[in-house]
Amino acid sequence: MAETTAVKRRGKEEQRTKRPETIKQARSSDQRHKNVVYRTRDLNLWYGNHHALKNIHLDIMENDVTAIIGPSGCGKSTYIKTLNRMIELVQGARTSGEISYRGKDILDDAYRVEELRTKVGMVFQKPNPFPKSVYENVVYGARVHGIRDKKTLNYMAEKSLRGAALWDEVKDRLNENAYGLSGGQHQRLCIARCLAIEPDVILMDEPTSALDPVSTLKVEELMQNLKKDYSIIIVTQHAAGRPDL
Ligand SMILES: Nc1ncnc2c1ncn2[C@@H]1O[C@H](COP(=O)(O)OP(=O)(O)OP(=O)(O)O)[C@@H](O)[C@H]1O
Ligand SMILES: [Mg+2]
Repeated sequence: MAETTAVKRRGKEEQRTKRPETIKQARSSDQRHKNVVYRTRDLNLWYGNHHALKNIHLDIMENDVTAIIGPSGCGKSTYIKTLNRMIELVQGARTSGEISYRGKDILDDAYRVEELRTKVGMVFQKPNPFPKSVYENVVYGARVHGIRDKKTLNYMAEKSLRGAALWDEVKDRLNENAYGLSGGQHQRLCIARCLAIEPDVILMDEPTSALDPVSTLKVEELMQNLKKDYSIIIVTQHAAGRPDL
């Protein structure tokens, strides 16, 4: 009993003396220093003649989980796809207005979309692992960027899988095909693949809607952890019941 009390006291002292380790962590623990990641001004979007987004005006802050909610068809996925310019893959879609990411207008033709793709990761509603091993799924982005060093790739794989709260479940199955994992594990694998590119922002379009309640809870808890290091923008049906998001 006495030992338990001592442990508790020691824990409290550690909490009191614990200092943020990096400037980023220090900033994220202090709301006054939060920076704007995305600034959207007068954004309009048309699919042909259909006016899908009307005069969007929104600031998204760093190290927050920003939830986008609204009825079906109101333009949530459309908006999130403008943030990484995936929208330009849709034929007939055109925009007006401004979206700046870290101070630069990403809708400007001069902005290099490749730069954005290395900073902004995306997790889709339906988990989309590649037909490769668990390991190769995670290091895919690194390989595309020309990283070949095995030690670096191993480090990235473990760090990203730990970050996605999946390491303990797959550490002995790294060379197995990712299709053999469960649906909830697939989605965390896709989150790990996204973390491996070391993004600044993670966009998520209803990432838990295809998952069972247990997997949903795991992914939601994971997001609370991730927001310490990343800015998360999520389309979700659950925000109304989650004031902590
Ligand atoms: N590729 C497209 N071509 C034409 N219209 C589209 C396209 N994608 C979306 N739309 C239209 O734009 C509007 C917004 O669609 P969007 O998919 O952004 O809605 P959402 O809020 O994500 O809906 P949901 O909750 O059902 O996913 C809808 O009226 C939709 O029909
Ligand atoms: Mg949608």
